[in-house]
Amino acid sequence: MSKNLGVTVLLTGLSGAGKSTICQVVEKELRMIGRKVEVLDGDQVRQHLTKGLGFSKEDRQENIRRISFVAHLLTRNDVVVLVPVIAPYYQMRDEMRNLIGNFIEVYVNAPLAVCEQRDVKGLYQQARLGKIQQFTGIDDPYEVPLHPDVECDTVQESVAESANKVLNKLNELGYISYYRELVNFSA
Ligand SMILES: Nc1ncnc2c1ncn2[C@@H]1O[C@H](COP(=O)(O)OP(=O)(O)O)[C@@H](O)[C@H]1O
Ligand SMILES: [Mg+2]
Repeated sequence: MSKNLGVTVLLTGLSGAGKSTICQVVEKELRMIGRKVEVLDGDQVRQHLTKGLGFSKEDRQENIRRISFVAHLLTRNDVVVLVPVIAPYYQMRDEMRNLIGNFIEVYVNAPLAVCEQRDVKGLYQQARLGKIQQFTGIDDPYEVPLHPDVECDTVQESVAESANKVLNKLNELGYISYYRELVNFSA
């Protein structure tokens, strides 16, 4: 069998939707079954690979381009690359898919009101106060994915249920051949 087992999983959604949280669980499970995994988390990447870039459309595009470049290199070496980033534009997500090939788009869906209420990093409050600009969902657009491969509704689902959806898709497409059904746990 010559199938390349590498794949990039893009988790797109608003800040606070649950992208990083789902990734942590999926990452752990993939390691458990012996897969090579890397996580390119938007927040961390912006401190290194894409340091200095801002949040204009052009800079967001450049941010995703650099992430895509690294994800591509890893993917062709059989790594499962988890990419939790906002990636607000159709075009950048499509470019990523076209470059990488082995690609799964996960829409991590929670309404703005819920994300704002969670305000995990306190950023929505700062955006509402005008202390930060170009904040996705407040004064910057988010183009809702029209045909994601997976959609996680993080209002209705537990973290384990959302993670299972991602693992199920990896299994269905042949990128992994075994995983345990995760059971609910309390955070
Ligand atoms: N099904 C779910 N999947 C992911 N996160 C969830 C879910 N349900 C509730 N949450 C909570 O939502 C918050 C999401 O925060 P985070 O993962 O940092 O978001 P993001 O990385 O998208 O900005 C966490 O506090 C998490 O516990
Ligand atoms: Mg995050």
